[in-house]
Amino acid sequence: MLYIKIGKMEVNSSFLKNKIFFDSPNKNIVPISTSIDKNGNLSIANCSINNLVERYGSPIYLLDEMTLRSSCRAYKRALEKYYPGKSLPIYASKANSSLFMSNLIHSEGLGLDAVSEGELITALNGGVDNKKIVFHGNNKSDREIEFAIRNKIKIVVDNSFDLERLITFSESLNTTQEVMVRFTPGIECHTHEYIKTGSVDSKFGFGIENLEVVFSKIKKSKNVKLVGLHAHIGSQIFELDPHNDLAEIMVKVALEAQKFGHIITELNLGGGLGVKYIPNDDPPTIDEWVETISKALIKACEKNKFKLPTLMCEPGRSIVATSGVTIYKLGAFKEIPGLKTYISVDGGMSDNPRPITYQSNYSACLVSDPLNLNSPKHFTIAGKHCESGDVLFKNILLGNCKTGDLLCVFGTGAYNLSMSSNYNRIPRPASILLNDGNSELIQKRETPEDLLRFDVLPDRFISHSSVS
Ligand code: LLP
Repeated sequence: MLYIKIGKMEVNSSFLKNKIFFDSPNKNIVPISTSIDKNGNLSIANCSINNLVERYGSPIYLLDEMTLRSSCRAYKRALEKYYPGKSLPIYASKANSSLFMSNLIHSEGLGLDAVSEGELITALNGGVDNKKIVFHGNNKSDREIEFAIRNKIKIVVDNSFDLERLITFSESLNTTQEVMVRFTPGIECHTHEYIKTGSVDSKFGFGIENLEVVFSKIKKSKNVKLVGLHAHIGSQIFELDPHNDLAEIMVKVALEAQKFGHIITELNLGGGLGVKYIPNDDPPTIDEWVETISKALIKACEKNKFKLPTLMCEPGRSIVATSGVTIYKLGAFKEIPGLKTYISVDGGMSDNPRPITYQSNYSACLVSDPLNLNSPKHFTIAGKHCESGDVLFKNILLGNCKTGDLLCVFGTGAYNLSMSSNYNRIPRPASILLNDGNSELIQKRETPEDLLRFDVLPDRFISHSSVS
């Protein structure tokens, strides 16, 4: 198989202390095709960002194909190395779901995890093989369950409400439905409270104490077949130990399931590997993470005399975050003497809700002065939404700049577009794929008129439209 080689490119940027590109994209802040052109401007995949904004407008999401593919390949390569022949990396499409992403994931041989009918139809229309899709969710609708059953998609049973309906629907549709059971392993990890999922008080999955009832209920059903177990402990995790502990717990639970006559052939250890957003972030590499979960699973299987199952994992952020950047145009400057200078940009919390939701930090630079060579000063970068908390950077060092200059925010490929909103009726940006000097539209920019698409004015209200 062909793997992309990443040379030791030098980007002597002041926000990026680390000048060597790791071949584990989650260890880099910037896409691996980032460079500075002969005029001193930032460029990605040999595309001039100034030209892209002229062509597609701003704000704009850019995705670097090389970084994206190299993340997928890093997972595949590491799994082949540490757990040969019996693994499937499954992209968690909640991180960034689109026809393009589904198609790329399929072309790289990965599976895909979906949590709604919307993510499922995006995956299927993008070409993902139904046998490589797993369907999650702690409150699936009847329609979603039926859709998954009809499309022969593996379902992760999250709770008794799920299970009851699965049994009923698969009986009435007269099919055999493969399922995995999700449980909360009771593992604590260090990440933001909102993105922990494996602790005992989590809303996701069965508590371990309830599993006997679940295993026995599934055994009694003629139409539901239990093939595997699932657990996920959280997201943006830099520690390896919690993943280590998970494998042992999963194997023990699998042995319990076997006592009820189930044959567990798949263990899905979830995702969670963190990425580097700012210079102080130091996540493990994809290789180290896969080595940890693989060795832990092999060891747990040997210790408990359990036949090696297919190892599944569900990375989302570490596949797509680093390949994405967002470009904004600088607008209003407001200097508060002795305090701070605000610069407002033409986007903000509607295209990136992570700073206001999780107090997330990012790195950014001016497109025209990526190295801050031109008398740098500290600024506060505000979004354009009518909300004081809509601040992307509280205190960032940027070179001398003015209205109209472009700002590039790194690491926005995951959980930006997928969590975006139309707050203040602001249209979503376009998404552009970059590869070797070419740019391709992968999602159109919304227009303000698009936002009226689903509004309905009941007949008894008279329209007084005065748009000119
Ligand atoms: N599998 C399951 C069942 C999950 O719940 C998640 C993430 C993943 C896989 C992928 O985890 P990752 O590799 O991306 O860490 N919106 C938050 C992140 C929420 C993650 C929820 N579950 C954020 O912007 O940080």
